[in-house]
Amino acid sequence: MDKKLHTATLSCLFLLASVANAQSGVFDVRKYGGHANGDITLALTSAWKAACALPTRSKVWIPSGIYRLSGISFQGPCKGPIEFQLDGTVQAPGNPSQIKAEGSWVKFEHIDHLTNLGFNFITNSIIRDVTTKDSKNFHVNVLGCTNVTFQHFTVSAPENSINTDGIHIGRSTGINITNSNIATGDDCISLGDGSKQISVTNVKCGPGHGISVGSLGKYKGEEPVEGLLVRNCTIMNTLNGVRIKTWPSSPATGIATDMHFEDIIMINVSNPVLIDQEYCPWNQCNKGVASKIKISKVSFKNIRGTSATQQAVKLACSKGVPCEGVELADINLTFKGGAATSACTNVKPRITGKQNPPACAAPPVATA
Ligand SMILES: *[C@@H]1O[C@H](CO)[C@@H](O)[C@H](O)[C@H]1NC(C)=O
Ligand SMILES: *[C@@H]1O[C@H](CO)[C@@H](O)[C@H](O)[C@H]1NC(C)=O
Ligand SMILES: *[C@@H]1O[C@H](CO)[C@@H](O)[C@H](O)[C@H]1NC(C)=O
Ligand SMILES: *[C@@H]1O[C@H](CO)[C@@H](O)[C@H](O)[C@H]1NC(C)=O
Ligand SMILES: *[C@@H]1O[C@H](CO)[C@@H](O)[C@H](O)[C@H]1NC(C)=O
Repeated sequence: MDKKLHTATLSCLFLLASVANAQSGVFDVRKYGGHANGDITLALTSAWKAACALPTRSKVWIPSGIYRLSGISFQGPCKGPIEFQLDGTVQAPGNPSQIKAEGSWVKFEHIDHLTNLGFNFITNSIIRDVTTKDSKNFHVNVLGCTNVTFQHFTVSAPENSINTDGIHIGRSTGINITNSNIATGDDCISLGDGSKQISVTNVKCGPGHGISVGSLGKYKGEEPVEGLLVRNCTIMNTLNGVRIKTWPSSPATGIATDMHFEDIIMINVSNPVLIDQEYCPWNQCNKGVASKIKISKVSFKNIRGTSATQQAVKLACSKGVPCEGVELADINLTFKGGAATSACTNVKPRITGKQNPPACAAPPVATA
């Protein structure tokens, strides 16, 4: 989420399998001039408009087959609930410059009660059994959404693909991600400002950059991050495990609170447990000025496995607003090349249970 995109040609592909159920208001793209191996941009737009105008339950359907789509924004509000069912494969243009939609290839906006897919300003929705592959940017950007659950969601992209966060959440409340598998080149899940009551359970992450809160504190007017539970996840072959990152020299104060990480297995993770309030890639900021983002009520419990670097736990809090209410409980992270270490600054965590490495035993060293 923090790197400039400079890709040449990547293709995006959305696959969705769902159970067909017969219902009256079915808007089949083929009825609107769409056909397999053709471009369905216009047909899909027309089918959506017709479904959206129907006051009763309806379904927009793309049957099996391969279709091309140059970009679309599904606009609400709609008169009745709509189910979007994609049984086929829809391909984006190979060259991102040919994508016709603003910002993202496929967008759903201002819709209530959408079944299956959704992203901007979506409420009360379930997105399940979706695979998103080789996105040219964030795979999913959840913005301004309330009460949305992602189940059995799969993200797949190469380890070296830039800026391909799996699911990025911002300014959204009540988002659950469960039983999902995310392999990508950037954060598996990232939480931007205004993320509230987020739950991430039974998720496998890797490769990628782990599960991240932030980065926060780069801009003015950021909303608090509040209420995160990450539980029963496996993080494997990633750069970070669970991380909270904020920029130094933030232009305004901010809050990140009530964040809990528990029952997590790390396998070959470079920075398994990390609070980094000196996050400043490519020296884009003044590191000498402390971050003004106040981090509090954070727990790391029952986190075990292997660290790919010696420093397995690093809690580098702001000297301006030290972290408060941090808890480390039952940590067991081992390092192949010797005894794992941990380091803490501007934080006095409550320590319970077993601790390997010994908690806060050394001042931090720089991480990559
Ligand atoms: C959240 O969304 C689900 C799925 O659409 C719905 O069943 C549930 O009632 C919603 N919950 C609230 C609190 O609105
Ligand atoms: C989301 O997860 C939380 C915690 O696991 C749970 O309490 C809540 O009911 C879930 N919400 C939905 C909409 O499934
Ligand atoms: C933990 O997650 C795994 C999948 O990653 C799942 O098989 C298992 O049932 C989950 N355990 C609990 C207690 O939810
Ligand atoms: C460990 O993770 C790194 C990515 O951080 C990966 O390149 C490397 O292949 C992994 N090692 C093993 C043994 O899987
Ligand atoms: C930590 O994990 C290692 C490797 O899995 C295991 O051998 C060791 O007994 C564990 N230590 C504690 C204190 O649980």
